[in-house]
Amino acid sequence: MSQAKVDIVLNEPVGTIAPQIYGHFMEHLGACIYDGCWVGRSSPIPNTDGFRNDVIAALRHIKASVIRWPGGCFADDYHWEDGVGPAESRPKRVNVHWGNVIDSNEVGTHEFVRFCQLVGAEPYFAGNLGSGSVREMRDWVEYCNFPDGSSLASKRAQNGSAMPLGVRYWGVGNENWGCGGNFTPEDYGTEYRRYSGYLRDFGDTPLFLIACGPSGNDIDWTRRFLTKIRKDFWSGTTIHGLAAHYYCGTAGTSSEYTEDQWYQLLYQAAKMEALVIQQRALLDAFDPERKIGLIVDEWGTWHPAEAGRNAAFLWQQNTIRDAQVAAITLNVFNRHADKVVMSNIAQTINVLQAMILTEDDRMVTTPTYHAYDLFSDHQGGESLRTIVKCAPISLPTGHLDQLSVSSSLKGSVLTVTLANADCASSLEVRLRLIGGGTSQSIDGTMLESRHGGIRALNCFDDPDNVGLTKWDRIAGAGTSELTVQLELAGIAKLSIEVQ
Ligand code: AHR
Repeated sequence: MSQAKVDIVLNEPVGTIAPQIYGHFMEHLGACIYDGCWVGRSSPIPNTDGFRNDVIAALRHIKASVIRWPGGCFADDYHWEDGVGPAESRPKRVNVHWGNVIDSNEVGTHEFVRFCQLVGAEPYFAGNLGSGSVREMRDWVEYCNFPDGSSLASKRAQNGSAMPLGVRYWGVGNENWGCGGNFTPEDYGTEYRRYSGYLRDFGDTPLFLIACGPSGNDIDWTRRFLTKIRKDFWSGTTIHGLAAHYYCGTAGTSSEYTEDQWYQLLYQAAKMEALVIQQRALLDAFDPERKIGLIVDEWGTWHPAEAGRNAAFLWQQNTIRDAQVAAITLNVFNRHADKVVMSNIAQTINVLQAMILTEDDRMVTTPTYHAYDLFSDHQGGESLRTIVKCAPISLPTGHLDQLSVSSSLKGSVLTVTLANADCASSLEVRLRLIGGGTSQSIDGTMLESRHGGIRALNCFDDPDNVGLTKWDRIAGAGTSELTVQLELAGIAKLSIEVQ
């Protein structure tokens, strides 16, 4: 068994963990929307206003805070007016990015906002900069948010919502260095300025405008985009968030991998920390008042297409290795709570690193879902300085931290999440609470799988193999020094009442 030491500094808050860090992303892609959440009002599958009840309950349970929609690449080919008004007269469009399938536009603005209301999440709309127009995007904002009296607000009322939809988060394009128009950073800077200038606050909904950030940790994109904005238009341009995308990819396949491939994928996932550190440093250099938040609005694993499935639909299985990726990444975001204001894992249902898989009337929650469940108590907590001492795992490519940790305090409850990246050895962790405070009572919860070892997963015929269970390998309640034992590949949470 390896050893680690963790100091949690109770009187050194880093920043509040934005609930939006626990955000999601849903695109018109494969079976994410259609057959994922949407089955239609007349479906025999139990639904509310066309959305599956089981999916709604599952996402409510993990406190899904914000959901980005309608893409992805799809967003820059989406025209919002196609998705409002009577469903039977909505145009059928070809989804050119994802398999040339026909999109019926049955799920449009009102439906998606309704889904978010049912789930308890806020909608985040990605606007079309690639193939749309400034007018189209500003009209969408007016349609959603203007209280009443304008033609667009009246149209919204005719379409079922006299009340504004109150959409706060707006992405000004998606991946505009790629599928969103192949812009240079300078050209996107000019476009961002033009578009964002017409996106206005209406009624009770101040907008939060999100600029397209880099592909991965592309320093050049961020520097050149911000240089352009600062040089030509700094004073008149509003950017509330800059959104990077980082997919850590794969090693092996989604459910077949060796121990070496386990480490290789986690090593790739752990690069998120360098991305956050380097991008935030660059942002702060341009924006010393630190008004611009860092967002990662697409991230996760991306495994090879599963045999027998349409490769364009990006359906993949999800094991406890994906749950480790989620745990490592969420711990990074929690520790950088003073800068990271939102993150959206890709994608919620049936696509990439999904929370949920559906097949006809069946639904399973994935190991990644259970990691989100485990971590959800961090939302709104004060992230605390957490110092880890643990020998790293040596890999041919570099070093991987064996132990990933973050901690947060809400009232008198301290939440600590831990992940042991080592798939061959368990870990004893000595945890000290410093800065004044002892643990009164302690509850532990951990991810558990009944079989499958490091490849454990849930599937339709065996939906409950991986889930959460009580973690009781904890000693030291009533003191400020605890000792816990984390299984190999273990992910766990401590909920500590501190006094
Ligand atoms: O999530 C799948 C795709 O990955 C998104 O549509 C795009 O933004 C990214 O390249």
